[in-house]
Amino acid sequence: MRLAPLLLAALLAATGLAHADGPILIKFSHVVAPDTPKGRAAEKFKELAEKLTAGKVKVQVYPNSQLYKDREELEALQINAVQMLAPSLSKFGPLGLRQFELFDLPYIFPSDKVLYRVMDGEIGQRLFKQLEPRGMVGLAYWDNGFKHFSANKPLRKPDDFKGVKMRVQSSKVLEAQMRALGAQPQVMAFSEVHSALQQGVVDGTENPESNFYSQRMYEVQTHLTLSQHGYLGYAVVVNKRFWDGLPGEIRQQLGEAMRETTVFERQLADQENRKALEAIRAAKTTEIYLLPTADREVLRKRMLPVHTQFMDVIGRDLVLGTYKIAR
Ligand code: LMR
Repeated sequence: MRLAPLLLAALLAATGLAHADGPILIKFSHVVAPDTPKGRAAEKFKELAEKLTAGKVKVQVYPNSQLYKDREELEALQINAVQMLAPSLSKFGPLGLRQFELFDLPYIFPSDKVLYRVMDGEIGQRLFKQLEPRGMVGLAYWDNGFKHFSANKPLRKPDDFKGVKMRVQSSKVLEAQMRALGAQPQVMAFSEVHSALQQGVVDGTENPESNFYSQRMYEVQTHLTLSQHGYLGYAVVVNKRFWDGLPGEIRQQLGEAMRETTVFERQLADQENRKALEAIRAAKTTEIYLLPTADREVLRKRMLPVHTQFMDVIGRDLVLGTYKIAR
């Protein structure tokens, strides 16, 4: 962990020097490339926030884990070293917020429509409430579509996964999902995945197309199976003390900027993932395999016990509530 910048920022925030007299500064840190749904939405939020507050707020976006990696960024937010993040929903478990692992359950969302009804309805709001005791406020759910398996060999049937070392995000559900397939899960920060694949520290991973392409994973993975087995989305979160301390009018303008950005981001997610898939195809280094429905069903059945295994940890009502929406 880069302790010095964290400590310095905490000190500045505590002494009130962080905002002096100039515009209110929002540092928005994230781990993906600028040219991804999240990266582009962060820039869009900057543009709208600065416009709607007539320059009273300035947003600085730090992409590509350039300030902090996965776990560090959540720590940095909690001490107000950065004010805004959009971590994937899979990264809240290590803070004790296991309810967010609902989104990691394999094949739980049969469509975008179901997904949005869960996020934008009572379940999404209940999850956001859990953030507040951890010093965060949830502002929006952003989308990055469904994930696919990749490796340096075809991954089509459960047998293909046997013993394969698969990188996962910091989620116990994702670890269990890989084990259910016979693979060996390895938790790793996003910023380290490309080189871990290159050096053979792990054999494969799971990503939506935009991350697979923008992290140049097509250079180090010969096979991509379009499996759509799991979801990748984000919670846009702000430091609670920072947010509560803003003048009401500014908070309202930023809320409006976030609403507009979210509409933009969700439209973009699908578009960018389609574009990325074409770019992966054009690179000709990765064989792309569209998993037929029957094979997808075999994988789904193999992973389904993970739902029961984590039902109580995540919250029975959350899981059953999602099933009900999916029906
Ligand atoms: C990952 O770690 O694979 C993703 O959460 C990265 C991201 O933010 O899309």
